Amino acid sequence: MSQTTPAQHKRLAERYDRVAEQLAELYAKVADPQARMASAAALLHHKMPHFFWTGFYRLVDGDLIVGPYQGPIACLLLERHKGVCWASADRGEAVLVPDVHAFPGHIACDSRSQSEVVVPVRDASGAIAGVLDVDSEKPDAFSEADVEGLTKIAAMIYG
Ligand code: SME
Repeated sequence: MSQTTPAQHKRLAERYDRVAEQLAELYAKVADPQARMASAAALLHHKMPHFFWTGFYRLVDGDLIVGPYQGPIACLLLERHKGVCWASADRGEAVLVPDVHAFPGHIACDSRSQSEVVVPVRDASGAIAGVLDVDSEKPDAFSEADVEGLTKIAAMIYG
């Protein structure tokens, strides 16, 4: 899926737009970041058929600890500066991993995860507040359309 046709990209982008519109309506009523994360995880997880695990890790006192999520039980605490979530938080950018086994230091919370995309979540001051992490049971399940859509939704948490 790293290589998508323009039609596939458009279909997925429109799906993200619909999720973002629905979240915008919900977020108008509540600004609490954790309530917003919980709603984003639930909506994304149920609207995106290629998502196996959907959730947030929050940066708390220098640690990435699990936040609201949907899917199988996951690691509560990620070893510092190791794995995909930390790579995204440390670099301050999206990290798209078509094959988790090929990513040095990848942290396998569930051995069924085969591919993954992580985008940073920034607070109102622009500081990294955590990450939005999505895993798939299929290899190479994500594309740039996922990076763009998830980046847009991550920006709404503190927006
Ligand atoms: N695989 C992630 C850890 C979190 S789980 O995927 C839910 C990582 O390498 O950071």
